[in-house]
Amino acid sequence: MFKKRAGALLAAALLVSALAACGDDEGGDAGGGGGDGKLVLGFAQVGAESGWRTANTKSIQESAAEAGYELKFSDAQGKQENQIKAIRSFITQRVDVIAFSPVVESGWDTVLKEAQDAEIPVILTDRAIDSPDESLYESFIGSDFVLEGEKAGEWLVEEYKDETEPVNIVELQGTPGAAPANDRKAGFAEVIKADPKFKVIASQTGQFTRTDGKQVMETFLNSNDDIDVLYAHNDDMGLGAIEAIEAAGLEPGKDIKIITVDAVKDGMTALSEGKINFIVECSPLLGPQLMELAQTVADGGTVEKRVLTEETTFTPEQAKEVLPERQY
Ligand code: AHR
Repeated sequence: MFKKRAGALLAAALLVSALAACGDDEGGDAGGGGGDGKLVLGFAQVGAESGWRTANTKSIQESAAEAGYELKFSDAQGKQENQIKAIRSFITQRVDVIAFSPVVESGWDTVLKEAQDAEIPVILTDRAIDSPDESLYESFIGSDFVLEGEKAGEWLVEEYKDETEPVNIVELQGTPGAAPANDRKAGFAEVIKADPKFKVIASQTGQFTRTDGKQVMETFLNSNDDIDVLYAHNDDMGLGAIEAIEAAGLEPGKDIKIITVDAVKDGMTALSEGKINFIVECSPLLGPQLMELAQTVADGGTVEKRVLTEETTFTPEQAKEVLPERQY
């Protein structure tokens, strides 16, 4: 009898401690579900692979603080399984809204269905998913990555309009399977295919990082001695590639023309120095709009399914002008 009672008490104690453990988020914050009336936002970030990502994280953290929300922030270190784990943890903690920037496009339906069953609204930020079931999320806020690729292609077409010889291009792609890598590649290819003189002679992932950008550019340079243009899917890979080009005794921006995407400060500095020739902007400042969307969906309001970010492009002259005021 005594043994049975002691067993029941132990089981109860274990249940209490298990529930308490579920309440701990990735950063160690306690609680969830807005006990003190604050909106609780669970955000699962891709990682810290680039200057863009760092600026995006800062924008989200600062905007959440300004809005007076409790932010449960998780860094997936570039791994989809970590993001899925974080989303499940947000569901267990009963946050008010879940937002995330998907590492890759596919493989989200199961976990998003779990959020839907738990009646927790989800907002996609920065990157899309490729699910046919649009009911799995309330809204997607971010750039048009295909358009970014097209803008890069259009600059190239204009720059080489009088050229009659083949133009040899190498491409540094972003993370395989990520929306910006897929779309920036597709948009660029669509524009340049109109003229057969444009030849992509090598295209490989540089994982959106400076280190990989440098390493892959070294490989490109070792196996191709006639590279005219580098198209990098972000500034960081372009900046890494610049190091490789200089180490090979070539002049970036002159011997090899460079086009990148993002327009973060380091990229814009290289552009103003003529080491990069053209940058297509991709804004990381999604925080303020995300907070507004989160509040509306938490209140049961209706939001736009697609919120597009406004973006531009920069030449070296324009970079010089805007650099002193650049926020990121
Ligand atoms: O999803 C946005 C992309 O991800 C940025 O262009 C790149 O720098 C980042 O890592």
